[in-house]
Amino acid sequence: MEQQSTTPMQGAGEQNATAAQQGAQEGFSRASRNRLNDRMLAHFGGETLFDAIARAVCRTGCLPRKELYEAWEVARRVHRRFRGGRVVDLACGHGLVGQILLLMDPTISGVLAVDRRIPPSARRLSDELQKAWPGLAGRLTLQEGDVDQVAVGDTDLVVSVHACGALSDLVLQKALAARARVAVLPCCHDLERCASGGLRGWLDGALAIDVQRAVRLEAAGYAVVTQTIPSDITPKNRLLMGTPPD
Ligand SMILES: C[S@@+](CC[C@H](N)C(=O)[O-])C[C@H]1O[C@@H](n2cnc3c(N)ncnc32)[C@H](O)[C@@H]1O
Repeated sequence: MEQQSTTPMQGAGEQNATAAQQGAQEGFSRASRNRLNDRMLAHFGGETLFDAIARAVCRTGCLPRKELYEAWEVARRVHRRFRGGRVVDLACGHGLVGQILLLMDPTISGVLAVDRRIPPSARRLSDELQKAWPGLAGRLTLQEGDVDQVAVGDTDLVVSVHACGALSDLVLQKALAARARVAVLPCCHDLERCASGGLRGWLDGALAIDVQRAVRLEAAGYAVVTQTIPSDITPKNRLLMGTPPD
């Protein structure tokens, strides 16, 4: 199992990382749940991909600031590890992480973003992103439905940001059953329902659950990578990624 800290992307990604980190340096909380809107545009005046995405998010006026940073930080780490195929964004909310991946990787065939309840503003956000990047047109499917019902294939990349409690386990189960690549950032650890492998005498309960998730992937033959996104954005910051065996 490979463990990594928050490693910035190289080259152009480095520039984007700097832009995304600026908020923290200026004492602007990246964890804020306030919605980004037109009044915040001035914070994102740079030339980076991150700034351009943030401006589109501001113009939509629907997304809490922390969700922009979470989606960005997850997408850039996933992009360093995985390329191409279809992205299946489960419990997607506004589906931002999948759309950022599309912008980072032109070899992705498309994004299927599924949530039990797709917020109406999700379409406003995708329209706004398409205005800035017309090439995104037709490459995102926002689908209302249950994670359990989604058909996943072995060339897919399953991503899921903050699927609450046991839903992260269901996401992992879907990916494992299909032998698909997977990246999850779990949250709301349910100490009653989620397996912690008897580790709670040594480890914090939420950490024990995530360790079990990594062990489960590795036991299935996956190459596992564990990382974190910056904790000033969210304390639910453990990113678990897995590549199936050939
Ligand atoms: C904490 S939100 C995360 C949303 C988004 N990924 C993000 O990071 O902003 C959890 C999402 O899971 C969705 N959800 C909960 N149970 C679900 C299920 N069984 N199938 C599909 N979506 C579900 C909720 O509607 C909600 O949008």
